[in-house]
Amino acid sequence: SRTYVVTGSASGVGASTAALLRGRGDRVVGVDLRDAEVEADLSTPDGRAAAVDRVTTLTDGRVDGVVACAGIAAPVPKTVAVNFFGVTRLLAALLPALERSDAPRVAVVSSMATLQTVSDELVAACLADDEDAALRVAAALADQGPEVGYLSYPSSKRALSRWVRRECVTPAWAGRGIPLNAVAPGTVLTPMTSSLLATPESAAMVDAAVPMPLHGHQSPESVASLLLWLTDPANTHVTGQTIYDDGGADAVLRGDDV
Ligand code: NAI
Repeated sequence: SRTYVVTGSASGVGASTAALLRGRGDRVVGVDLRDAEVEADLSTPDGRAAAVDRVTTLTDGRVDGVVACAGIAAPVPKTVAVNFFGVTRLLAALLPALERSDAPRVAVVSSMATLQTVSDELVAACLADDEDAALRVAAALADQGPEVGYLSYPSSKRALSRWVRRECVTPAWAGRGIPLNAVAPGTVLTPMTSSLLATPESAAMVDAAVPMPLHGHQSPESVASLLLWLTDPANTHVTGQTIYDDGGADAVLRGDDV
């Protein structure tokens, strides 16, 4: 059996991923704000450091897979802290533990929102690994109201998918034999989207932005099962990809752009 670290394990996609892994006999160390083996706030450097310490203790410093699901979609700077730096900084700190596995694998949860309008300045600050600058840019966006502040979400996810693509081929990842990929879901039925889908009017707005001709809204398990494959030893050569697991939203929105 393998040992997996799953962030966001208390809810939605993370909870489903943890359940599927445990159901097949793997060990899961969940990381979340509460209701997890490791209770930590991934939005801050201190919280990330505490999470890594506790994970290292619980796993004896050996981790076979990491699935990073924790994320928020609020029009505030914290969205960038959790969705980008809460993933990239955590993963960098877990590399020594991954290196001790025979078949280390990592997958993160991005979003079809990578296809939406972003703040190029915010994406650049993330990719420059400059958290202070990114938080400043995100705060300036939030000051302009929720609609502009929301740019933090697609920007954090586009930066994350691009980070995966850049990092995956470096000595840190390919050199250690670690596939690194992202899954980009459409509209998943979790607490994150329940209020958005609560009225027919707001649901229609979501569906206009996220067209899902194949099967419509998706279950968290639909995302979790792909995360399981990407982090399985069976995945030897898929790396650097953002796999749109979105009922066709990417195919509708980008059309021939492949
Ligand atoms: P959710 O809200 O059900 O679960 C997210 C989990 O992350 C929660 O348990 C929450 O406590 C945890 N979390 C939030 N901030 C944290 C922090 N600072 N430190 C530690 N844990 C923290 O959301 P859902 O839908 O399961 O989302 C999972 C991922 O999927 C997120 O990255 C989200 O952006 C992404 N996603 C979700 C979509 C959807 O339609 N629900 C669509 C596309 C992507």
